[in-house]
Amino acid sequence: MQDIPVLTVDGPSGSGKGTIVQHVAQKLGWHLLDSGALYRLVAFGSQNNHLSFDDEASIADYAANLDVEFKLVGSDSAQPGMADAKELQIILEGQVVGPELRTETTGNAASIVAAMPAVREALLQRQRDFRQAPGLVADGRDMGTTIFPDAGAKIYLTASAEERAQRRYKQLKDKGISGNLAALLKDINERDERDSQRTASPLKPAEDAVIIDTSNLSIEQVVEQVLAICEQKF
Ligand code: C5P
Repeated sequence: MQDIPVLTVDGPSGSGKGTIVQHVAQKLGWHLLDSGALYRLVAFGSQNNHLSFDDEASIADYAANLDVEFKLVGSDSAQPGMADAKELQIILEGQVVGPELRTETTGNAASIVAAMPAVREALLQRQRDFRQAPGLVADGRDMGTTIFPDAGAKIYLTASAEERAQRRYKQLKDKGISGNLAALLKDINERDERDSQRTASPLKPAEDAVIIDTSNLSIEQVVEQVLAICEQKF
């Protein structure tokens, strides 16, 4: 396991991580772990199963037994997180989960369950199991600090809260969904606060992470910088 290379990419929501890691994983031909999706699934599934967010033990138990399958559509392969997937289908308890997983509401609920130490503990090994040959790109908040502290390269992507709110706003607009910029900025600030203030694996750069501020960079420029770092480190 330990000799399989890992690149960790951490940072706050809206820093561009999701898009960047997909490009990088594809270029490297490595697997991809979207750890945020696991927290989103726990929040979404707990709500569907009428578990109370006050009941940490039940949510942790749900997380430990999370019945999820990551499946490549249009391919025989069912390997989780394959970067070159045409489309990655997420099946929770036998049901395909669609765009509802990516909403702001689910993101905020995810950050509530993610603050529970027992939930993080329950998802620890599941995340480490994504480390498979030829390599892994791991996207999250604590990939470089807690999940893969021995990763060969660590990146921390950041951008101003205003820039991240603008990006969200544009993303929603492109999908035909109308957003409210002030409300998005408020959500981002609240989520940043919760993610960085919690005691269990708070959002912060690993000591050996390279910090990239993406506020004034294009996706291509960030991908290029990350690939250059990988070339140096691997
Ligand atoms: O990255 P994404 O927006 O999908 O993550 C949703 C939430 O899950 C984050 O706001 C954060 O609270 C939590 N999360 C986390 N640790 C990770 C990934 C996500 O706490 N490694």
